[in-house]
Amino acid sequence: LLFHLFLSPRYNFQVVRRTWGKEGLFKNGVSIRTLFLLGVPRNRTALPLWDRLLTYESQTFKDILLWDFDDTFFNLTLKETHFLEWVNNSCPHVKFIFKGDADVYVNVENILEMLQGQKPDTDLFVGDIIIHAKPIRRRSSKYYVPEFVYGGGLYPNYAGGGGFVMSGHTARRLSSACQQVELFPIDDVFLGMCLQLIGVKPSRHQGFRTFGIPRPSAAPHLQTFDPCFYRELMVVHSLSVPQIWLMWNLLHDPELSCHNRTSPTSWPFRWKDKMVETEGKETDYGEKQVFVTH
Ligand SMILES: *[C@@H]1O[C@H](CO)[C@@H](O)[C@H](O)[C@H]1NC(C)=O
Ligand SMILES: *[C@@H]1O[C@H](CO)[C@@H](O)[C@H](O)[C@H]1NC(C)=O
Ligand SMILES: *[C@@H]1O[C@H](CO)[C@@H](O)[C@H](O)[C@H]1NC(C)=O
Ligand SMILES: *[C@@H]1O[C@H](CO)[C@@H](O)[C@H](O)[C@H]1NC(C)=O
Repeated sequence: LLFHLFLSPRYNFQVVRRTWGKEGLFKNGVSIRTLFLLGVPRNRTALPLWDRLLTYESQTFKDILLWDFDDTFFNLTLKETHFLEWVNNSCPHVKFIFKGDADVYVNVENILEMLQGQKPDTDLFVGDIIIHAKPIRRRSSKYYVPEFVYGGGLYPNYAGGGGFVMSGHTARRLSSACQQVELFPIDDVFLGMCLQLIGVKPSRHQGFRTFGIPRPSAAPHLQTFDPCFYRELMVVHSLSVPQIWLMWNLLHDPELSCHNRTSPTSWPFRWKDKMVETEGKETDYGEKQVFVTH
């Protein structure tokens, strides 16, 4: 199992290494590797220091993949294609890949449990799937996409960038599919286009929370940092470094007991639920929400 991140250079890798990104041997002989994927920061003033830090990190932890392009939002698609190519050529036997942002909390145990019984040599792509998203046609938006760049009325279904899981088989197929798809500046959508090309329908799973916890509607009295709630999820997006630490420590507290809780008594989310095919019955995210994750 290979874990991979889009990290912005300002981010603290160490929190991920020490919490949910821990490498090693897990239950049932599952072996996990964690990698950080980087381009070069655009701010040239900061470059000498960054270079020294990264050299140190890379030599110490040997978990960094660095490519020679500007590490900017609109270059994330390049990161995607480079990563897939790297998987195909340098890590061809990987069984499953989780790929996510650095500001997520990942419940690795739940992901491993979900993957139990899944076959790595068949197609699998699971996440918080966004369906029927429309290109933004307002020129004032950061995510403005002119008609000549994308003429279609709707994007193909795609996974929100917080994190998703795919089989090694799907990753290898994507690596060649993505070479045939014209580069599109929004990486999540681009990957959706590659999936469409190989005819893989991404599955939606309740445990993936790309947009963070929609508190009021999901569970009225929910406390954001109720570890019993997070325990049920797989990926939660938009957390700060201290929040990731806190959540990790709360969830790994041996005293944690979630069985005798008083309220709320029943959870609307059960990550053990089956994955669902993304065929028209999911929430239609509004255009504004679709891109807040970046
Ligand atoms: C670039 O990096 C320098 C040194 O770290 C910093 O002082 C400056 O604010 C940065 N510039 C921008 C535009 O982020
Ligand atoms: C992507 O990276 C290339 C190579 O570093 C750079 O020339 C280009 O300006 C970057 N594009 C964006 C949109 O940041
Ligand atoms: C993926 O790996 C296969 C087998 O090594 C190779 O033939 C193919 O060219 C690679 N594809 C890409 C996109 O690198
Ligand atoms: C839950 O049960 C444990 C052990 O029975 C107890 O120590 C703990 O205080 C209880 N928690 C609540 C919220 O009732």
